[in-house]
Amino acid sequence: MSTTQKELETAHELLDFIRKSPTAYQAVANMRDMLDAKGFIYLPEQDAWNVRRGGCYYTTRNASSIVAFKVGADLDHYHYQMSASHTDSPTFKVKMSPELSGPEGYLRLNVEPYGGMIDYTWFDRPLSVAGRVMAREGSGVRSRLLAIDRDLFLIPSLAIHMNREVNDGFAPNRQVDLMPLMSAGELSGGAFVQLLADELGVEADQVLSFDLTLVNRQPGVVWGAREEFVSSPRLDDLQSAFSALRGFDQAHNDHDVSVFACFDNEEVGSGTKQGAKSTFLRDVLVRINAALGKDEQDLLRALAASFMVSFDNAHAVHPNHPEHADEGNRPHLNQGVVIKEHAAQLYCTDAFSSAVMAEVCRRADVPTQVFANRSDKRGGSTLGNLSNQQVSVHGVDIGLPQLAMHSSYETAGVRDTAWGIRALEAFYGADLVIEGAEGVSFCS
Ligand code: CO
Repeated sequence: MSTTQKELETAHELLDFIRKSPTAYQAVANMRDMLDAKGFIYLPEQDAWNVRRGGCYYTTRNASSIVAFKVGADLDHYHYQMSASHTDSPTFKVKMSPELSGPEGYLRLNVEPYGGMIDYTWFDRPLSVAGRVMAREGSGVRSRLLAIDRDLFLIPSLAIHMNREVNDGFAPNRQVDLMPLMSAGELSGGAFVQLLADELGVEADQVLSFDLTLVNRQPGVVWGAREEFVSSPRLDDLQSAFSALRGFDQAHNDHDVSVFACFDNEEVGSGTKQGAKSTFLRDVLVRINAALGKDEQDLLRALAASFMVSFDNAHAVHPNHPEHADEGNRPHLNQGVVIKEHAAQLYCTDAFSSAVMAEVCRRADVPTQVFANRSDKRGGSTLGNLSNQQVSVHGVDIGLPQLAMHSSYETAGVRDTAWGIRALEAFYGADLVIEGAEGVSFCS
């Protein structure tokens, strides 16, 4: 089977979205733009909410997590069909005092790790910074999104002549080896904040604080003699987030409340006010329930009949290291959506939820494959089992297969984004009637 024009276009649209989304803040801003264009109404968390049947809405928290929802017109069996993905990726965060002056007249940035990145992938490539800056404006303090579209920094390797053992295994020291170079003498202390101020059109003393992280400037590409691959920064998890939002947008379901959630801080454990472990999703559901004139009993009944798709990228079998993948539960690029299971429940998948999701995909002609860790390996965790601590519902962990997870430049299959969109569209469109853990009917 070869790649269709449509699948290729989708891959390029994904790369476009990722390029415009260097951090969680820009990802949420871009999602908001997409939702605004579709007529979704923004409901700030601090306002009273007016939610109507047939309406489309979204809210954000910390400008870095977002929940959008569409309320079915008749809600004859009121429940929620939800997905969760994440907006953040491993990178390095600029410290509050952002510069290291010297040695030898150099000026460097002082950064610390955010999440579990592969350190060596950050060497010798042009970098910038992006995120948000808090600036004094008028009588108050304002948040300004910032993504500097220039090559500004680089972390230089040490020459092999000075480290002959580098190819025998190199463990970079994060306080020593991974500080980005900013200037070789042209700039001096204070230059970084001045740079931010210039970009924002404010004075340096108006810059009060910032959440800024390093951005790999290498643009995403589709590659291979047969254009089989897509490589880009932040495929984990913007590939899933993009697919989920598309599927959510394209589906229509009058019988449920469809919910699209995208959380920040998955890469650092989700334990923030806007993370998957926070009350954010639960607060939104409680407010929808109340705005629809329903009581607590209605909400609990609805949750018992609800379903969550936790959508985070999965490990494809590696071409040079197939031995790290399980014998039979190993996904392949371009072969469809991955259903992930873990006996110790770092994934929320169980027989019930995997059967529902596999059936949703089968009915939409979306191929599925399965992932489990090798039994002697500890895998990663993700969103589903964490969001379940606040909103406990049937859930399945799925993902799109990729290589080099947490590299600053990751690789996936060119066709899988289109499969992901189709799977989520089918999920959101499915008229599911869930009866406890006894079964589920696909109505209409
Ligand atoms: Co992820």
